[in-house]
Amino acid sequence: MRSRAALVGWLMAASLRLVAAAPPESAYAGAESCGTCHQEKVASQRTSEHARALSRPADHSLAGKFVPARSFTLSGKYGFQFRWSGTELRLRASDSVKDIDFPLEWAFGAGSQAVTFTSKANSDWYLENSLTYYPAAGTYSRTPGQSKTAEDSLAASLGRLYGSDLGGDMAACLQCHSTGPVTRTATGDLQPSIPGVQCEACHGPGRTHLVAARAGDVVLARNSIQNPAHSTAGQMNAACGKCHREPASDPGTIDWKVPWNVRHQPVYLNESACFRQSAGELRCTTCHDPHGSLQQDDASYNAVCSTCHRDGMRPPSASCLRSESRNCVGCHMPRVSPQAYLSFTNHWIGVYGPGDKLKPIIRLVKK
Ligand code: HEC
Ligand code: HEC
Ligand code: HEC
Ligand code: HEC
Ligand code: HEC
Ligand code: HEC
Ligand code: HEC
Repeated sequence: MRSRAALVGWLMAASLRLVAAAPPESAYAGAESCGTCHQEKVASQRTSEHARALSRPADHSLAGKFVPARSFTLSGKYGFQFRWSGTELRLRASDSVKDIDFPLEWAFGAGSQAVTFTSKANSDWYLENSLTYYPAAGTYSRTPGQSKTAEDSLAASLGRLYGSDLGGDMAACLQCHSTGPVTRTATGDLQPSIPGVQCEACHGPGRTHLVAARAGDVVLARNSIQNPAHSTAGQMNAACGKCHREPASDPGTIDWKVPWNVRHQPVYLNESACFRQSAGELRCTTCHDPHGSLQQDDASYNAVCSTCHRDGMRPPSASCLRSESRNCVGCHMPRVSPQAYLSFTNHWIGVYGPGDKLKPIIRLVKK
């Protein structure tokens, strides 16, 4: 069943059953159980993009938009129509001879930039669908990283196949977008323990902590849960980098000309003079609330710059201050758009020349 032709046959015949989420691994307690004692954190984390990074299509906050009236065409001859069948989002793909109708199983992405669907194709393969929903455009378009060049048949136009083995690509997608271990059933269903990036993705399994806290054993409670507040800036880069990508041990291996790499924030922040020369003062949480949503107002980030860049410490030069907006991040952390509707912020804080937002002009650092 490994060929694309076999896949089409399978998809045509199958009525794919969506399996209910498996009960969390016992070491993982789930975010709701933290709420009795950490109510505020649970309340704000629940609405964050992290918590919503993976869900069933019907549970997604944008579910109401997933079935537009119009249909879509790829490569001029493969037609796609979305529809709901009860709570199941389904896609019908057809060309002049064939017709394939199958369910979309997982929705990846909270929807701040894009929502991509995956389907189980058979016991060996998962399908990353070729059409992704882009909220900024209010419509579907090609999935990031997929190109039309491979589209020589209806089956190929459905998207890209990923192996369903536990060490494989689909398990990796689920792992970064969920909490606790991903498991695999005998029939090849990959199951995240808890969909979405929740408390225990960053703090480690919380069952022991919870039981100890309930029993009033504060020492064991403290010792049995990870608190990144105690980690160094470098350790935090690595911890967030587990999913956002870790800084390279040799930056010479990174191709800074590839705009897609900009989405790997820890890799870029690690190159900044601000990060390297501030003795661990600058870290992801200096600018981001790990329990909340992305703050989209530049002013909050600009305020961070001036906590260091004031008084004697390399204050902004005349060219900065000539700018009317004084929007530090607009010039020193430019946004990079690797494709339509997607953009990422260059976390290599530096001085950018006209026309190059990928890599700053590296200057000799003055004393
Ligand atoms: C029964 C109450 C209770 C529950 C439930 C609970 N905690 Fe805690 N938590 C505590 C107490 C008490 C502390 C220690 C506070 C202190 O250090 O003064 C704590 C501290 C923490 C810390 C900081 C540890 C440190 O060393 O600074 C983290 C992180 C944490 N909890 C996460 C969680 C997570 C995640 C969950 C859910 C899996 C959870 N807690 C469930 C009571 C609870
Ligand atoms: C288990 C994997 C994982 C870890 C660990 C993780 N993240 Fe994320 N993060 C994600 C995923 C997946 C998204 C995409 C959410 C979405 O669907 O938009 C994301 C999104 C974000 C966003 C953007 C939110 C938006 O509007 O899209 C920020 C900011 C962020 N993470 C910061 C952090 C920081 C800081 C840390 C470390 C303290 C961290 N993350 C650790 C997986 C992770
Ligand atoms: C190494 C961890 C990791 C893996 C593996 C991974 N993702 Fe993500 N994904 C992230 C993080 C982190 C973000 C947030 C990106 C950002 O805003 O910088 C994200 C964001 C997304 C988004 C939101 C739109 C966007 O591009 O920001 C979608 C959709 C998505 N991932 C789908 C997938 C799919 C499908 C797979 C498997 C083919 C996958 N991801 C594999 C970590 C991962
Ligand atoms: C994306 C990673 C991430 C997720 C998800 C996350 N936390 Fe945290 N948490 C952190 C970081 C980073 C810190 C340290 C904050 C700092 O340095 O000020 C922290 C600190 C804490 C603390 C210590 C008290 C404090 O304010 O410093 C508690 C308690 C806590 N988190 C509970 C939770 C609970 C409960 C959840 C789920 C509802 C959760 N966290 C989800 C990253 C995360
Ligand atoms: C924790 C302190 C700290 C914060 C916060 C900080 N920086 Fe820096 N920054 C530094 C240090 C230290 C240097 C290097 C020493 C120097 O240039 O004087 C530096 C250097 C720079 C440089 C020169 C870089 C180069 O390659 O020549 C620019 C531009 C800059 N920072 C802009 C910013 C902006 C914009 C922000 C806010 C988004 C910011 N910094 C936040 C500490 C910080
Ligand atoms: C000096 C401040 C600063 C620091 C430190 C910082 N960020 Fe950001 N980050 C920003 C700004 C500014 C944005 C753009 C916000 C917006 O979209 O309006 C951003 C956006 C993001 C996004 C959304 C996708 C994107 O690239 O636009 C993610 C994910 C993210 N940061 C992760 C991280 C992680 C992980 C770390 C630690 C390695 C980190 N950030 C450190 C300022 C910072
Ligand atoms: C209009 C774009 C622009 C804005 C807005 C801007 N800068 Fe700059 N900044 C530059 C340029 C260009 C340079 C390098 C040329 C120079 O030294 O005059 C620079 C240089 C710097 C330097 C290095 C100074 C040195 O001694 O080499 C720092 C630090 C800095 N900016 C911080 C900031 C901060 C903080 C803000 C927000 C208050 C800010 N900049 C706003 C364009 C800008």
